[in-house]
Amino acid sequence: MQTLHDIAPLRETLQAHRMAGRRIALVPTMGNLHAGHLALVERARGLADVVVATLFVNPLQFGAGEDFGQYPRTLESDRDKLAAHDCDLLFAPGVETLYPGGLETQTQVHVPDVSEGLCGGSRLGHFDGVATVVSLLFHLVQPDIACFGEKDFQQLAVIRKLVADLHFPIEIVGVPTVRAEDGLALSSRNGYLGADDRALAPAFHRELSRCRDALASGRAPDAALSEARQALQASGFRVDYLEIRGPALAPFDIARHAEGRLLGAVYLGSTRLIDNLAVSLPRPAGSGIRHG
Ligand code: PAF
Repeated sequence: MQTLHDIAPLRETLQAHRMAGRRIALVPTMGNLHAGHLALVERARGLADVVVATLFVNPLQFGAGEDFGQYPRTLESDRDKLAAHDCDLLFAPGVETLYPGGLETQTQVHVPDVSEGLCGGSRLGHFDGVATVVSLLFHLVQPDIACFGEKDFQQLAVIRKLVADLHFPIEIVGVPTVRAEDGLALSSRNGYLGADDRALAPAFHRELSRCRDALASGRAPDAALSEARQALQASGFRVDYLEIRGPALAPFDIARHAEGRLLGAVYLGSTRLIDNLAVSLPRPAGSGIRHG
């Protein structure tokens, strides 16, 4: 596997692949790779001739007081994992390579509507930072396909809209969340959890699953959400949000939507965890939807 840190050799290498008619798949990451990232690489491997992973801890997507400084930087072990998963090229630029003019004056991309609320409501400017760096990587790599995890479901929706609105000729592939055996969604931030919080963390997924099942059996959404919030708080989580959204994260409309997404974010101490599940609400025979 080749590792590149600069833009000129990246462009040159990828141009040669394009000229040879090879399909390129991109897997953007911030490193500290776990099985969730490696599932993206495996998926990309099955879809393209050349797999490019990027490793860049993007300062633009961290708010003041967030964990940019603390975020684990593990280039050597990430490189080994990518090579073992048959990745062809790792692009790991420095901040000054991607943002040579500094962060203050960097041109940014805002994806309206879908960036608002949920994580975008608690992490102001976060999705502008994501949309900006992903646009940059799309321009530099010009992939045919790009793979993103469904764990960051709002991010995936932001990127799908970004690609549609800016006419990037890139197929966006969402890859299902990879979980630990106890159900906790894998995340680089799980490493921040102490032993007690790590033992408690799977209760987040359990409550989401319980809420999904309640909705599927006809419980009214407001009641199911409120019960889940209370159960999470009683278990020791601080709930940031717990919501149901419709397709493409549009507000959920019970009269129109039988399928939706249950999305949540909680804090355990200062560690923020996110997760989401597909939900189906029963549509009784005949007109309308009844929920008890
Ligand atoms: O999901 C992530 O790791 C990041 O948000 C991404 C997509 C690599 C952009 O920095």
